Amino acid sequence: MIENLPGDSVLNQEAFLFGVATSAFQIEGAVGERRPCIWDAFCREPGKIRDGSNGDIACDHVARSEADLDLLAWLGVDAYRFSINWARFLDEQGRIDPRGLAFYDRLLDGLAERGIKPFVTLYHWELPQHLEARGGWLERDTAARFRDYAALAATRLGDRVEAWATLNEPWCSAWLGYGNGIHAPGRTGLGAYRKAGHHLLLAHGMALEALRSESKSVPVGIVLNDSPCLPASDQPEDADAARIAEAFHYRWFLEPVLAGRYPGLADELPEAQQPPIRPGDLACIGAPIDYLGLNYYTVERYRAGGPLGFEAEPPQGTTSDMGWAVDPDGLRHLLEELAERYELPPVYICENGIALRDECVDGVVDDPRRAAYLRDHLLALDEALRAGVDVRGYFHWSLLDNFEWAEGYTKRFGLVWVDYDTLERVPKGSAHALRQWLGARPGIRRGTP
Ligand code: FCB
Repeated sequence: MIENLPGDSVLNQEAFLFGVATSAFQIEGAVGERRPCIWDAFCREPGKIRDGSNGDIACDHVARSEADLDLLAWLGVDAYRFSINWARFLDEQGRIDPRGLAFYDRLLDGLAERGIKPFVTLYHWELPQHLEARGGWLERDTAARFRDYAALAATRLGDRVEAWATLNEPWCSAWLGYGNGIHAPGRTGLGAYRKAGHHLLLAHGMALEALRSESKSVPVGIVLNDSPCLPASDQPEDADAARIAEAFHYRWFLEPVLAGRYPGLADELPEAQQPPIRPGDLACIGAPIDYLGLNYYTVERYRAGGPLGFEAEPPQGTTSDMGWAVDPDGLRHLLEELAERYELPPVYICENGIALRDECVDGVVDDPRRAAYLRDHLLALDEALRAGVDVRGYFHWSLLDNFEWAEGYTKRFGLVWVDYDTLERVPKGSAHALRQWLGARPGIRRGTP
């Protein structure tokens, strides 16, 4: 599958982990076995989800986890990235829910039996609804509740976890959830965005401390979505627009974590839009992490204009079914740029993948574009590795077709097709290609340890 990958590539070495990723709300279902979260409530608001769907059943993964674990083993991945649903793991009083614990225990044990390393994310966007009712991420106390959750997860599950991630893409939780409101809980405003963002970052810092003290040897990181922000032309005002967009999008979360400070943009904001920083916050947020998780999908080009000082250009060239530009070299560019600008800890690509209009015909899903996307991004990653960027692993998004947030079930990112009527799984052509490549990596042991 990866025809042009040189034999000596780091990607072929045992230490480089190859995995696939999912998240709790997007696949689990079993809504009756947990408390509601913000996405349950959001899905019930008319017009919020493109196909009017919800996560009640999703891929029915809770009931089918054994078969899904077998799929992972069949693929031959080294690692699996999944998330815990806070509202399944804990009750309203912050006590362990035995049924939720039993499910995540089963999952971790099943991975151990199959020799697959679990990369576990604590927050992939599903805040328990009872915390949202008390102000959600606009409340500082939510960060403390998250720390308590992290501590319990570490004590009960930490012995089988390969690596923890505190948050997935806090920019999305803050901007899409509290800024422009296209994601749960659907609140809006620039002030709300920065407040929620700060409390999410604080939650990361507080959880980092808790995880470190409860499960000492397990590395802890955070997963951010960083897309290169390029100017749409060589006009100086577009170069400025791209810089503002970059500070607004990814540096707003990356710099506090890596350098314990907000980007300079913060100094220019009116009072009402300032993050609510208290003494000690930035030191807590900027405490060293063991690894940085990056999710890469696309590059964006910006022009000066609009209320925020930048406007995204329509994507150029080939796009995915999400309308995102397909640009493998953007991954190399991003990694090299970040390595040049910051003291980077080891990096894992925690998501990368493509939505396509797949079809299942007579039990076969032919998706050569996904296999090509995967190959091209791995070749770009190989270039970054050769340039000296310390990337330790790659997770493809996603194992299964699943609930794609505001897009409902209309977008398919999976290596494995899910029939939403029967919930049957059908490995796509890309899954077969990947399996073949993974099985052929020279010198890599497969299967149970
Ligand atoms: C990322 C999310 C993930 C998935 C992909 C397509 O932003 O982390 O849950 O929806 O996009």
